[in-house]
Amino acid sequence: MATTLGVPRETADGETRVALTPTVAERLMAQHGVQVVVEEGAGAAAFHDDAAYTEAGATVTDRAGVLDADVLATVAPTDALLDALRPAHTLVGFLAPLEHPQRAQRLADAGVTSLAMELVPRISRAQKMDALSAMSSLGGYRAALIAAHALPKFFPLLTTAAGTIRPARVLVLGAGVAGLQAIATAKRLGAKVFGYDIRDATREEVESLGATFVELSLDTEGSQDEGGYARALEKAKQERQPELLKPHVAEADVVITTALIPGRPAPVLINEAAVDAMEPGSVIVDLAAPNGGNCVHTEANTTRTVHDVHIFGPTNLPADMPVHASQLYSKTVAALIEEFLDDDGAFVPAPDDDVFAGACLTHDGAVQNDRVRDLLNQSSEA
Ligand code: NAI
Repeated sequence: MATTLGVPRETADGETRVALTPTVAERLMAQHGVQVVVEEGAGAAAFHDDAAYTEAGATVTDRAGVLDADVLATVAPTDALLDALRPAHTLVGFLAPLEHPQRAQRLADAGVTSLAMELVPRISRAQKMDALSAMSSLGGYRAALIAAHALPKFFPLLTTAAGTIRPARVLVLGAGVAGLQAIATAKRLGAKVFGYDIRDATREEVESLGATFVELSLDTEGSQDEGGYARALEKAKQERQPELLKPHVAEADVVITTALIPGRPAPVLINEAAVDAMEPGSVIVDLAAPNGGNCVHTEANTTRTVHDVHIFGPTNLPADMPVHASQLYSKTVAALIEEFLDDDGAFVPAPDDDVFAGACLTHDGAVQNDRVRDLLNQSSEA
């Protein structure tokens, strides 16, 4: 029998995104014969009213009606939603499995099948399901705009009758998806941009965007694994990073930081002395704020001013752009779900499938992800 997809209203603080837009819901119904039920007001903060869902052919109902669905498409479900789930449910969303492994245990205990968008494997077949990259692009773009807005200077070079304005210097630490988008955006705004990463492979990408790659006298060989992902630096090297970065930070008007290795606390790259050395009025936008921050002064969801430097610690920049964030996110969620819909539109878990197994957090009453299981074991031993 065809699956019913439920779209609960997001209730986490500050969340504005919706997991399925009317356009994507309409396509899923047309192509797979599934039904979509949407909680009243679910799309409101992303500018999709209930009427748009009704026109798309979805049913708009209350929370209890949405919980009758088989598969729940969410952005960032709260504990209240998790508590309401039953064994028949499949939950899809950002489930923060490495940050909150206990939530995985609760889902397993409740017999829920859950697929975490954070765990979707970065293989070519799953590129269209890569919600993290989609959201990081939005984050990097927005971070550059926050910095440009907060900086008491121009970004571009200006030649005027009253004199010449030198372009702002923007340093981006961590040149993954968010970092590269921050570099591209700062470049478009006319700044002189510098990029740094521990993975040498990023040099080419940084330079192809017209930025200058910052080289530190730090041996970072081996900081990329076979899959192309970053490996944590040894402790001694990581401790040298802030000192080595300090002169580069001091010269920057803006620093945007995005350095992270998933499942680990963010490395500290900017210390007190580096902030002190920056010009008054300079700006730091720390995208690693949800994981502790790359700057010692970062506080999540707060803007601090230390030594006259403004330090932003945003935790959910995609929620500042709910229209495109929801559009992109919906496409990734839909791509993941439809991969496991059979010809009758029924959702069929496929534990042996690479994508299903990679994204699967809980199934059959157990936590299926090894790293999350390890974290749970460590916390029960502690
Ligand atoms: P990514 O994995 O593509 O990039 C992270 C980069 O950091 C990698 O290139 C890695 O090599 C680098 N890195 C790791 N350790 C480093 C170190 N010690 N020094 C220098 N570079 C180092 O991740 P992505 O998707 O670009 O996301 C980056 C961060 O931005 C994540 O923490 C993500 O959660 C965050 N983010 C935050 C948002 C917000 O609103 N605060 C919005 C979007 C993303």
